[in-house]
Amino acid sequence: MIQLDVKNVFGYIPGSEIMGMQDEVASKLEMLISRDGAGNDFLGWSNLPSSITDDQLSAIETSVAKMKGKSDILVVIGIGGSYLGAKAVNDALSHSFEMLRLKHDQPVMIFAGHNISEDYISELTETLDNYDYSIIVISKSGTTTEPAIAFRILKEHLAGKYGNKEAVSRIIAITDAEKGALRTLAGYEGFETFEIPDDIGGRFSVLTPVGLVPLAASGFDIRQLVNGALEMENLCLSNADLNKNPAALYAATRNALYRKGKKIEILVNYHNKLHYVAEWWKQLFGESEGKDGKGIYPASVDNSSDLHSMGQYIQDGERILFETVLSVGESDRAVTIPHDEKDMDGLNYLAGKRMDEVNKMAELGTILAHIDGNVPNMRIEIPKLNEYYLGQLMYFFEIACGMSGYMLGVNPFNQPGVEAYKKNMFALLGKPGYEEESEKIKRRL
Ligand code: PA5
Repeated sequence: MIQLDVKNVFGYIPGSEIMGMQDEVASKLEMLISRDGAGNDFLGWSNLPSSITDDQLSAIETSVAKMKGKSDILVVIGIGGSYLGAKAVNDALSHSFEMLRLKHDQPVMIFAGHNISEDYISELTETLDNYDYSIIVISKSGTTTEPAIAFRILKEHLAGKYGNKEAVSRIIAITDAEKGALRTLAGYEGFETFEIPDDIGGRFSVLTPVGLVPLAASGFDIRQLVNGALEMENLCLSNADLNKNPAALYAATRNALYRKGKKIEILVNYHNKLHYVAEWWKQLFGESEGKDGKGIYPASVDNSSDLHSMGQYIQDGERILFETVLSVGESDRAVTIPHDEKDMDGLNYLAGKRMDEVNKMAELGTILAHIDGNVPNMRIEIPKLNEYYLGQLMYFFEIACGMSGYMLGVNPFNQPGVEAYKKNMFALLGKPGYEEESEKIKRRL
């Protein structure tokens, strides 16, 4: 199992104080299990790992097998919770230079519809001119502007490249069972579809077809992802004891720190492959907790790169920070630093050591320095980067987020704040139905 170590918080908050939160955190876990807290109609994710059937996984594997054989590239269209889970797992487990494996092995996953950059979509269609590709379009609401624009453009490109009939066979749509423009379009055009359950919000959807279909299509082991999550579900739903339930301990500790003025949590990694795990985590916690004027601000750094940029602030800036370090066990790719006779660079003291050992000492040295600098930290030990442990990690964060949000006193499962920009954007773009808003905006400009 992945392990959570909070001993480096005790210098700042006594362990007894955190253990004193046992009843509080247990009551929040109970609210999730008995589904009687705020947002309780969006808790389908909490027993998802134990409710996914073998038939559902087989249906996904069978469907994507057709696509895999004929695609060098898999374009996954989606934004927010409709892309970050797949992107996080894909990046964590892919070769760092995956573009070099184009035309080999499994299709390479590329994302679209997560921005509205003209350069991005134009460079993407230019690239797709030269490769065989298929599209997985994901939108729960089926009406989100960014992926809808990207899909319209790429659908036209796909039909231009292969003709309408073949293009349809190269598209899978993942959306609500009934509602939304994507569902209507899929029915009209005859795309293969998968459903996103009604009671699971975007940022909690990685173990639904939203994450599983693109990951299976790109050759990842979705059964191991689900198995890992299931282990964590069994552990975390069976017992609220802070000594046994790592998610309860994480939720309690971060809230204890927040109550003492530590308003920003930085998720730290020492493997740049984990960059998008942090982006996924930031959305999970930011969108779940940042409301009603409350919430721990989720930030992230990729070390050791960011030790040379953000390191100064973290060590020495305003003392409102705490860290959670994602600490990964040994990699299978051993690289040893060579001995050099002349030693002009003075590095022979490292000769014979693995790069990973140097990285681990950077991690330990930084943790110690940050404790001295009054930045308490927690450490999550991940034995290995694979689907199984990522499944554990993602479920761990999801269930912790539910408890933590309830401890903050917010509804962790809505996101009213994300509508504000959309209203203005639609009014500015002249979307029908936004005339009154448009007039108000004109007076402000
Ligand atoms: O977590 C969420 O609910 C959001 O981030 C959504 O996933 C995001 O806005 C995309 O929505 P949709 O899947 O409806 O296009």
